[in-house]
Amino acid sequence: MIGDKKVLFSGMQATGNLTLGNYLGALRNWVTLCDEYECYYSVVDMHSITVRQDPAVLRKNARRLLMLYIAAGIDPDKSILYYQSHVSAHAELAWILNCFTYMGELNRMTQFKDKSAKHADNINAGLFTYPVLMASDILLYQADVVPVGIDQMQHLELTRDVAQRFNAIYGDVFTIPEAYIGKVGAKIMSLQDPSKKMSKSDENPNASIYLLDDADTIRRKFKRAVTDSEGVILYRDEQPGIKNLLDIYCACTGKTPDEAVREFDGCGYGVLKEAVGDAVVNVLVPLQERMKELEKDKAYIDRIIRQNAERASYTAMKTLRKVQKKVGFPERVR
Ligand code: TYM
Repeated sequence: MIGDKKVLFSGMQATGNLTLGNYLGALRNWVTLCDEYECYYSVVDMHSITVRQDPAVLRKNARRLLMLYIAAGIDPDKSILYYQSHVSAHAELAWILNCFTYMGELNRMTQFKDKSAKHADNINAGLFTYPVLMASDILLYQADVVPVGIDQMQHLELTRDVAQRFNAIYGDVFTIPEAYIGKVGAKIMSLQDPSKKMSKSDENPNASIYLLDDADTIRRKFKRAVTDSEGVILYRDEQPGIKNLLDIYCACTGKTPDEAVREFDGCGYGVLKEAVGDAVVNVLVPLQERMKELEKDKAYIDRIIRQNAERASYTAMKTLRKVQKKVGFPERVR
């Protein structure tokens, strides 16, 4: 709690191009929640280096991601948007919390299993302890709520477990955070394989809609989306491709799945694909226009980066100092 507002924390990795999944599963909810909470939105660049990165590309992506937060509708004078690497308390708390997290817990993380299978030549310790850094991100700000997509739930459960363990030993140090999962769009699937989630790192560009794809590309990707041979438009697990298209449609138009099914009753898949393409274009094109404006204003973005890092550090340091004292680190002599 800061003042009379509860605290919200969330972050995204500055890796690759943001997808419609990131937008509908997380970013969109960040925008709707930002007036109600005291918000911290981080570009989690320290998480990105668990997979090998080209330094120049990472730097460029990180800045672009921060601008996308603003282009999506977050007001950087009200919410705190910052780079994780600019607030050293994240790394310091992560070290401490590493000592309160069990190997067995980290071994169970599905993201670790998936990423180690994908990057078998670089299964580094950072990849393994990644969820502890994520826990530190959240706990440093005493966050009450963390809006994420379903794929991050396991990490959030771990965060709660570690926080509860720490509190049980040292008293009420950390707020125990709750996940905020949107009603629709919490798991957007690949357009080419609807059994897999839409992912920034998918090698097939037709599998994902990127937030900066132009209108023609968006429509073309939906036209090529994998469906089935049932020939009816129903919202059910037996038709994962159609269900995913309906989910995207509902998330972009605010309609419920029932309403959408009624609307497309008797239509062919082509009609649905076209309508979904249009709905997504309507949401993404305004965001892209704002992005173009922001790209012109270097000084404005630089100011946000500088000021917000200081604001974030101030809050983070308060928690870090408290934790350091609790675990027995000697006090600073002035
Ligand atoms: P990341 O960067 O993979 O994804 C950012 C956000 O997008 C959501 N998301 C999706 N939602 C719906 N459908 C999809 N296909 C889809 N793909 C991604 C994710 O759930 C996430 O909310 N570890 C985190 C970043 C992180 C973080 C944090 C998040 C680091 N520290 C603290 C919250 C709080 C990650 O890799 O997200």
